[in-house]
Parts: sequence; structure tokens; C-alpha cells
Amino acid sequence: MKNLSILGELSHAEFMRDYWQKKPLLIRQAIPNFTPLVSRPSLFELAGKNDVDARLITHEDQQWDMQHGPFNTLPAITKKGWTLLVQGVNLQDESVDALLRQFRFISDTRLDDLMISYATDTGGVGPHFDSYDVFLLQAHGQRRWRISAQKDLTLVPDLPLKILNNFQVEEEFILEPGDMLYLPPHYAHDGIAVGECMTYSIGFRIPSYQELGDAFLQFMADSIDLPGRYTDPERKPTKHPAKIDNSMISHISTELNKVKFTKDDITIFLGEHLSEPAHSVIFRTPVKPLTPASFEKTARKQGVLLSIKSRMLYCGEHLFINGMSFAINDDDKTILTILADTRKLDSAILANASTDIWEALYTWYQDGWLTLS
Ligand code: SIN
Ligand code: CO
Repeated sequence: MKNLSILGELSHAEFMRDYWQKKPLLIRQAIPNFTPLVSRPSLFELAGKNDVDARLITHEDQQWDMQHGPFNTLPAITKKGWTLLVQGVNLQDESVDALLRQFRFISDTRLDDLMISYATDTGGVGPHFDSYDVFLLQAHGQRRWRISAQKDLTLVPDLPLKILNNFQVEEEFILEPGDMLYLPPHYAHDGIAVGECMTYSIGFRIPSYQELGDAFLQFMADSIDLPGRYTDPERKPTKHPAKIDNSMISHISTELNKVKFTKDDITIFLGEHLSEPAHSVIFRTPVKPLTPASFEKTARKQGVLLSIKSRMLYCGEHLFINGMSFAINDDDKTILTILADTRKLDSAILANASTDIWEALYTWYQDGWLTLS
């Protein structure tokens, strides 16, 4: 029996084996009878918020223009050819978060966010490619997608957005509400609204090695331990006082080469880095927090839920939440990994929670990282 899911007839394993990072896939009626989760006025309202990343893209008289939000006003919906992109809508709306979580057959280390794009007739962001995998779910109206496996990914220079210089269409589809198109990274595509439409982009994160290297060295700077100080009792007089002598360089390189990093260092770095919330995230803290005792009493009855803004990961003895790492013992690990994987703890599981877990849960509740169910 196949597990019928958002991938239509395909199982998760078949999708990962045959399509993920490899080739596009069009799934007609991935979500049958799909209706938008966010109305147009609600989306426009989100685009006006300070903690929401929104962009407005227009294409007029052959000129591309991109502006960054927040937007108090937007062009008229009767005006053709404009697009509003609202990033991270899953961080603002429970139902959008629930939709994004249907893609958790792919690890949270890779899942990024759900962006909603609204376009008036003929609107689009132009032919381009993305550096990450994307599922494009049609939510409202129709969009014509044209795609290409072309290797020439040169861009038109000096534009405010990435537009391919030489887009050569290979396939074309019109997506209706509920249809979904998966594209691997670097696959050229262009989506044009056929009448007013809304498209949901489920995007993944692919950190560059350069970004990881920069962040890792910053992380390691905090934990370097090199005792002692340079000494040179053998130093001779010099006729070239400005020259750095070889003996100093070899002496110091021996000491600096003592800086080593272990697999544990990399695990902790990666967990903290990948669980770091997006820069714009603001956690909503409880207005009148319960006391620790009444929090525990209520949680024991109702259970707890991770906030939709929280990122939680684990590996071995390490637990990560919102950029922080904790060493956990085997008993606490069982409960905390359930919280990370299912994003909730019900009363039956909480019955076995240790004092350490109650302390952590209460701190996270005060910080707005989790709530009572
Ligand atoms: C859009 O939905 O308008 C753009 C999404 C994309 O091309 O990645
Ligand atoms: Co794209």
C-alpha cells in the first residue's frame, strides 16, 4: 500500500530517489480542492508588518523594478503585471505552518520557509533560477510555468533581480489550484500569472560552504584554548629590523597548528547554526506568564506545543533550540527528541518528565519558544 500524500501517486522514498535534487516533477492535484490559506487582504496586511520580509516586483516598459517592504500601500489590483512576494508566511500563520510541515519527510535541517507570491494578470518575477529546491504549489488562479534544463545560466547584468540572459523554454504547463511543480536547484523557470493568482513556494535551505566556513570559524573563536606566550631566548642581533624571521614563523605555526576541531565541535556548530531563527523573527512572550508550578500543573493536563517560530534539532547527546545547544542525558533525550520530531508533548509523555525538563520547558515558555496546548 503506497502512502498517498502531497506527492500524488509517488511515495516519499520514490520521490527522493528519482526526483529530489535531480529533475522536475509536476503533480496534478497534489492537494485536491485546495483553497488559499491566506486571503488577499491578509497577505497585503502581512506585507505591511516590520517583522515580515516582503518584496514588490514590477515589469513595465521593459524595465524590472524591485522594492523591499514593509508596504503600507500596494499598486491597484486592477493594474496588470505586478507581483508581491511575502517570505516566511509559515512563521505568521498556523495553517501555513501545518502545510509546510507536510514536507517534513525532508529533514528540518533542509526545510526553510513558505513564501506566498501574489500576482495580477501577466505578473511574474521573470525567467531565473534558484540555488535551492522548491515546490511551487498553485493556491489561487492559474499560473503558466515555463521551465528549462539549460546549462547557460548567465544573467542580464545590472538589474535589481536575477533575470536569465538567454531563457530557452523546453516545457510549459498551466498550474491550477492544488497543482504543484517541484524544481531542483539551478533549473531555469519563469511563472506568469494567467489572471490574478497566488503561488506558494516551499523553499529549502542550502548553505554555501563559504557561509558555513565563516560561521564555523566565528563559533570556534569562542572555544579556542592556547595557553602560553611566545618566547625567544635564542634571538640574535639583526641588520634587518623590519624583517619577520623564519624562526618566529615556524615557532608560531607549530603553536597555531595545535588548534584542532572535533566531530563534536562540528555537530554543536551545525546544530546551533541551523536552529538559529531567521533574523526577522520575534517570539511572542506570554503577557502574564504562569508561575512555574501552575505552568507544570496545566501542562500535565493539556500538554505543550512548540511555537511555529521555533527551530529544534538534535543529534546524539546534543539538543538544539533556536540557536542554543544543550547536553542531554539518556532519560531526558527520549522526551526531548519527541518534542523536536513531533513538535508537541502530550500529558501522557509529560508524566515522565524530570525536574530538568520542567525547568527547560518553563524557560522556553517564558521566552515564547513553546506554549501550552
Ligand atoms: C513566484 O512564485 O512568483 C516566484 C517563485 C519562484 O519562481 O521561485
Ligand atoms: Co524561482
